[in-house]
Amino acid sequence: EPHDVSALVATAQILAREAGSLVHEGRPARVRVHATKSSPVDVVTAMDLASEELLRRRLAELRPDDGILGEEQGFVPGTSGVTWVVDPIDGTVNYLYGLASWSVSVAAVVGPPGAPLDRAPEPQTWTALAGAVHAPADGRTFLAGRGLGATLDGEPLRVNEPKPLELSLVGTGFGYLVERRRAQAAIVAELLPLVRDIRRLGSAALDLCAVASGALDLYYERGLAPWDQAAGALVAQEAGALVTGLHGRRADHEMTVAGTPGTIEALVTFLESRKADSTA
Ligand code: IPD
Repeated sequence: EPHDVSALVATAQILAREAGSLVHEGRPARVRVHATKSSPVDVVTAMDLASEELLRRRLAELRPDDGILGEEQGFVPGTSGVTWVVDPIDGTVNYLYGLASWSVSVAAVVGPPGAPLDRAPEPQTWTALAGAVHAPADGRTFLAGRGLGATLDGEPLRVNEPKPLELSLVGTGFGYLVERRRAQAAIVAELLPLVRDIRRLGSAALDLCAVASGALDLYYERGLAPWDQAAGALVAQEAGALVTGLHGRRADHEMTVAGTPGTIEALVTFLESRKADSTA
């Protein structure tokens, strides 16, 4: 392993905490929407932009040879083979409304051997080495290093024991596009009678960390971007979760499912049995 995983975890933690402090302490009483993206409810605040600026500036100082892929400003290649995949605010709608469940998500990934460095790495083929998910509103920091385990504020994390689907607490999330939401609502309507209950917490990164800590048994979402899942998926995996897509694929934009082996299979089967619908 040519990369020092512990050093990458330490850098991820510094970056997530610095950006988190900036965003948390700089939160005005009423956050204003700076712009909208894919739909009128897909918002960017000035703090999303400021947070990503900070992450890019600090990475240029600390790791000048690495690439970066961020939600707001896209991909800038590096030369080292390591790319930082960052979400400056994951859960922007919660941040906008003053709800606590938002985070800064920072991951270091490497592409497959021989992958061209001028192309952004993709969840289907990357290997995540380090991840930090920091939730400033309650001060929690989730960390993971590949092969080193996952922690919450220094305490080791472990997923829940296997259990049947009907006793499972399931987290999910919804995209911003109306057509996708219709399909997602149809799946929720079918799933709700089959499980203990469903939560929509509002930050995919924290949902994946919730599986790691046992605060959720299962999580699934269609349509996640690379920065929504890079760090959280590693935290979940290092806590013992399986993180997967459907039909033997890896987790990616199509579908991300996370949970304890022994619990997750029933959810995967349910989701696979749904009529194939690329907008769901
Ligand atoms: C969103 C959150 C949300 C998920 C959406 C994401 P953003 O990220 O993670 O929980 O359901 O799919 O887009 O836009 O707040 O960075």
